[in-house]
Amino acid sequence: MNILQNISLEPYNTFGIAVNARFFIQINHVKELREALELKGYPERFILGGGSNMLLTHNLEALVLHIDLRGKTIVSENDTQVFLKVMAGENWHQLVLWTLERDYGGLENMSLIPGNTGTAPIQNIGAYGVELKDVFEGCEALDTQDGSLRWFTPEECEFGYRDSYFKNRGKGRYILVSVTLKLTKVHHKLNTSYGAIESELARNGVKEPSIKDIAKAVIAIRKSKLPDPEILGNSGSFFKNPVVDGKTFGQFIKKHPDAPHYRVSKDRFKIPAGWLIEQCGFKGKRYGDAGVHSKQALVLVNHGKATGREILALAHKIMDQVRETFAIAIQPEVNIIE
Ligand code: EPU
Repeated sequence: MNILQNISLEPYNTFGIAVNARFFIQINHVKELREALELKGYPERFILGGGSNMLLTHNLEALVLHIDLRGKTIVSENDTQVFLKVMAGENWHQLVLWTLERDYGGLENMSLIPGNTGTAPIQNIGAYGVELKDVFEGCEALDTQDGSLRWFTPEECEFGYRDSYFKNRGKGRYILVSVTLKLTKVHHKLNTSYGAIESELARNGVKEPSIKDIAKAVIAIRKSKLPDPEILGNSGSFFKNPVVDGKTFGQFIKKHPDAPHYRVSKDRFKIPAGWLIEQCGFKGKRYGDAGVHSKQALVLVNHGKATGREILALAHKIMDQVRETFAIAIQPEVNIIE
């Protein structure tokens, strides 16, 4: 087992935060993962996946395990569906492209989401009207308490909006090893109603879209709003959209009748945090190298050499200002490593 020391994590997190890991191991097999967990005389373990949903605020005095498990296997299929097992270290967008090439439907709306497949169930990734849970058959996770592999059904994952069992009760105990997806081979269920997809398809002159057409539209929309982490460090949406009760919503909408909103249930309303942040005047603002993206206020960016603490200070400034202006609390979606 190759244990590296004092490794810069800058290339391993999409925010591009330059902190070091005291110890670092690249994990290519489940066997290595078990061995790394059993090693004696090393500090606490820190599990690193695609690094696309975290903000590092200091050097890690830990043994970082970089999950680089690879492979895709069709575990079963019939005339209409395919069940695909994907190892945790596979890049999500590369996987989406791979499924599109084979005309397997289900992932097209989730094109271009940064990160690895193993992280997808943890925060139930989603975009343009589709969430991971809609195509999820189950996942395999290693129990750090006894090294056994456990299968999780969709119910056991307790998926919510950018939320799951792994973010709550299961936090810190399980390491995602593989994800099994249930995709369509025929009669793809197309989701084109969300946001700008229909107008983008119309712009491309597409009347009867294929899953590739939808993916193309989603990629174009995302590219127009969201920064490419290779060019500008970021972690996608830094905050979750707040969901408020009917009473809070009533008071809010009376004062701000033009605010965009979605009803999520009888008494629950979702208000886009991007709108709230933009109204507070933060869109495109820059404080040193920490900034708010100019095209989507929900995204915080690293213009170059921002530290995790500077990004975090900006996040607090935004949360305070939104609470003061709208009496609504917004919460980070990104995992903050403090
Ligand atoms: N808006 C503003 N100003 C902004 C940003 C948004 O006024 O700066 C308004 C928009 O005009 C629109 C509404 O807010 O009326 C919603 O905006 P958008 O469709 O861009 O989506 P979002 O709610 O801001 C969510 C996800 C994104 C996902 C998109 C599309 C969360 C936290 N974010 O953003 O996910 O791509 O919908 O489905 O739910 C991510 O999680 O990293 C991510 C990028």
